[in-house]
Amino acid sequence: MSQTLADAAKQALLTVDPTEKAYLTIDLARQWREGIITDVGATDLPDRPARPAKPETLPPNKMPKRSKGGLKGRIGLLHALAHIELNAIDLAWDIAVRFPDENMPRDFHDAWVQVAADEAKHFLMLNKRLSELGATYGDLPAHDGLWQSSMETAYDLLARLAVVPMVFEARGLDATPPTVERLIANGDVESAEILKIIAAEEVAHVSAGRKYYEMMCDKRGLPYYTTWHALLRKHLRGPLKPPFNDEARYDAGMPPDYYQDYVLELPGEGDDD
Ligand SMILES: [Fe+2]
Ligand SMILES: [Fe+2]
Repeated sequence: MSQTLADAAKQALLTVDPTEKAYLTIDLARQWREGIITDVGATDLPDRPARPAKPETLPPNKMPKRSKGGLKGRIGLLHALAHIELNAIDLAWDIAVRFPDENMPRDFHDAWVQVAADEAKHFLMLNKRLSELGATYGDLPAHDGLWQSSMETAYDLLARLAVVPMVFEARGLDATPPTVERLIANGDVESAEILKIIAAEEVAHVSAGRKYYEMMCDKRGLPYYTTWHALLRKHLRGPLKPPFNDEARYDAGMPPDYYQDYVLELPGEGDDD
């Protein structure tokens, strides 16, 4: 009896230790690529992935202010990014198998399994860098906001794609270049190089989100831009916040036509951080 992709995803989601989860993810992705796992299957998925006792998770508004400068600031930054990547591993597995009724094509599953493997690599790179700086993932508190807001879209693949890759991951594209510059200004070229590698790979994740979002729109006869805006209105607390990394977004197939109206539509309102 061979394992299905749904079983594999569930196994990864339920793995407690983050490093173990990352290595398991990379191995399961290999098994899918090599045809050792062939069927997508279906299973009941957990509402939340297994997490270790540390880091302590706090509500987003209870998170201590991160110091920006110095070694402490850099560790805080890398820790926060490692936490995002850990969540991203689980989110990719979840997208890959949560919506079997949509009968998505094989390349959809290939794409999200590859995203999971990329996120696993990103987590491992950041955690290695943390250890070089004398820290490790789990040392600092983290928040559950990303997982919680992602699960609000568990009811529909279209909503999930609209929000998780096309908003949250796209926001990562915007945030990274200034962070890279700040790290270089602080003399931390090693961390900056890691962030550059991650940023380059994240373009493909946003692109996959956009591609399958559009496929779903086509299937349902929905227009891309206004449907996206309606879903963002439902799931986000305010408009999208500039500045945007137009170039990286363009590379991901999300030209300004996608977001310019949603920024202008609700000028100056809200702050969804
Ligand atoms: Fe990532
Ligand atoms: Fe990603």
